Amino acid sequence: MNLSIALYTLMLGIACDAFVAQLKPRSISGMGLNAARQPIMAGNWKMNPGTEEEALALAEGVAKLLGEETCALSDDEANEDTCTEVVIFPPFPFISKVKDTVEDIGLTVGAQNFFFEDKGAFTGSVSAGMVKSVGCEYMLCGHSERRTLFEEGDVNINLKVKKVVESGMKPILCIGETKDEFDLNIKKEVCAMQLSKDLFGVTKEQMADVVIAYEPVWAIGTGLVCGAEEANEVHVFIRECLTNMYDEEVAQQTRIQYGGSVTPESVDSLMAQPDIDGCLVGGASLVDEKFSRIVNFKKL
Ligand code: 13P
Repeated sequence: MNLSIALYTLMLGIACDAFVAQLKPRSISGMGLNAARQPIMAGNWKMNPGTEEEALALAEGVAKLLGEETCALSDDEANEDTCTEVVIFPPFPFISKVKDTVEDIGLTVGAQNFFFEDKGAFTGSVSAGMVKSVGCEYMLCGHSERRTLFEEGDVNINLKVKKVVESGMKPILCIGETKDEFDLNIKKEVCAMQLSKDLFGVTKEQMADVVIAYEPVWAIGTGLVCGAEEANEVHVFIRECLTNMYDEEVAQQTRIQYGGSVTPESVDSLMAQPDIDGCLVGGASLVDEKFSRIVNFKKL
């Protein structure tokens, strides 16, 4: 490690320690507010598959395999809070037809990205209102691929989160540390910082519509799944941050997904953790059998 990297690391460590000390979470254990949170599984197709035909075949496969196993539009209201909510994020051109294919079995669609302005001369962009008008209920915000490949910063992510809730949709706010940050042992500091910047100005009432996805960047698309207990520890920390930023009620009601190389093999142990409320799935959501197995995780 050369001198400037060592100095940078030291300064970052000091800055983060100070930040986290300021955020010092209050203990939430034993407060009896452990609200039942409805599980939520999401498939982020990213820039896949290559054609509309393939996208519809995948959607049909998922619809056929899930059938009535999910939150189907049933009359059973008692089932509503405990059945698993499923959201699919196809690329823009496929959203409408995928929605038509999956809505009858109770699946929801969302958009992977949008621009926070309402309309105007923004060539190549789409607005929140546009995707809402084709039936999107959820929007991904702050995904690490947007942060790194498209240089999206926390200021813009915050504008997007606010735009989504103001538009009557629900953001899935993705946060998580990079491999370097993991190695520097500052994953909690990174998550705390992203939460406080990305949720700035989001009200307690609006938090009812916000889902958080903890996606350690080093686990995305690498086959390296974060250990279930290790992931749960970060989820508990995220709730502690939410307690500090809002209150215990918000911390306990907010659904927190884990994302990063989730597979049929890893899902059951992840979902057995008390603070993991669902998964945000990339690669495995492109294979209908794998995604349906993930949605139908076994309760251990
Ligand atoms: P993978 O499941 O392919 O690791 O992707 C995770 C992800 O980025 C979901 O948003």
